[in-house]
Amino acid sequence: MAERKKLYEGKAKILYATEDPAVLVTYFKDDATAFNAQKRGTIANKGCINNAVSTHLFKLLEAQGVTTHWIASPNEREMWVKPVTIVPLEVVVRNLAAGSLCRQTGLALGTPLTPPLVEFYYKNDDLGDPLLTCDRIRAVDIASDDTVTELDRMARSINQILKDFFNSCSITLVDFKLEFGTLADGTLVLADEISPDTCRLWNQEETDESRRVMDKDRFRQDLGDVESGYQQVLDRILAHTN
Ligand code: TMP
Repeated sequence: MAERKKLYEGKAKILYATEDPAVLVTYFKDDATAFNAQKRGTIANKGCINNAVSTHLFKLLEAQGVTTHWIASPNEREMWVKPVTIVPLEVVVRNLAAGSLCRQTGLALGTPLTPPLVEFYYKNDDLGDPLLTCDRIRAVDIASDDTVTELDRMARSINQILKDFFNSCSITLVDFKLEFGTLADGTLVLADEISPDTCRLWNQEETDESRRVMDKDRFRQDLGDVESGYQQVLDRILAHTN
C-alpha cells in the first residue's frame, strides 16, 4: 500500500488521507491526555477499545437514523470515515451532574438533570475550550443560529439512544462530548468518536463512588485500573449485542 499522507495528529487520534478522496482513515492511539494535555500518559490497548466502542455506537446510531461520518472499521485501530469540515464546537450532554458542572455550579455529584443539559464549548486548545453562550457563538461567528438549533436537536436525540443502550448494559451515561462536521453538500453529521475517553460511564453494579467509574475519569483522577474500566465497557457492549 502506498505511503499515506498524515493530515492531522491530535492527542488521541491521527487522520490520514487515502487514494480515495471520499475516504479518510482515523487511527486510534493509546496516548491519553487530560486537562488540556497538562497530564499525559498511555492506556494499554485504549486505541483498539475506543475504535471498537465508537464503531459499535456509530452503527447503533446509524441504524436509528442519525447520520455519522463512519464508513467502516477495517482493523482494530483504524476507522474509515467521510471527510468533513469540523464545526469548532464541542457539544456536551449531561444527564447527571459531574466534572466541570459540579466544580462551576456547586451541584452535588450525581444530581439528576431533567431535561438533560446541552452545552457548547469552543473547540480551541489555545483558549482552553471555554464554555460559550448562544450570544458568544454569534459574536465569534462559529455557527449560525440554525446550526446551533440543529446541533441541540441532534445531541438530545443521540443522548436518548445512547442512554437507553447503556442502561441496557447496566451502565449509566452520566455525560459525554460530541463533535459534528459538515459533508461537502453541507449536511451536518456526527463525527469524531464516542468512547470511554469522551463519556462518563458509571457501572450500575457498583455503588462505591470510585469503583463505579469506567471511563477516562479513572485516568484524570488517578483511580487506577484504567484499562480494565475501558475493557469492561467494551465487554458489556459486546455481550449485549451478541
Ligand atoms: P467536563 O465535566 O470536564 O466538562 O466534561 C464533560 C464531558 O465531556 C465528559 O464526559 C468528558 C468529556 N470531555 C471530552 O471528551 N473532552 C474534553 O476535552 C473535556 C474537557 C471533556
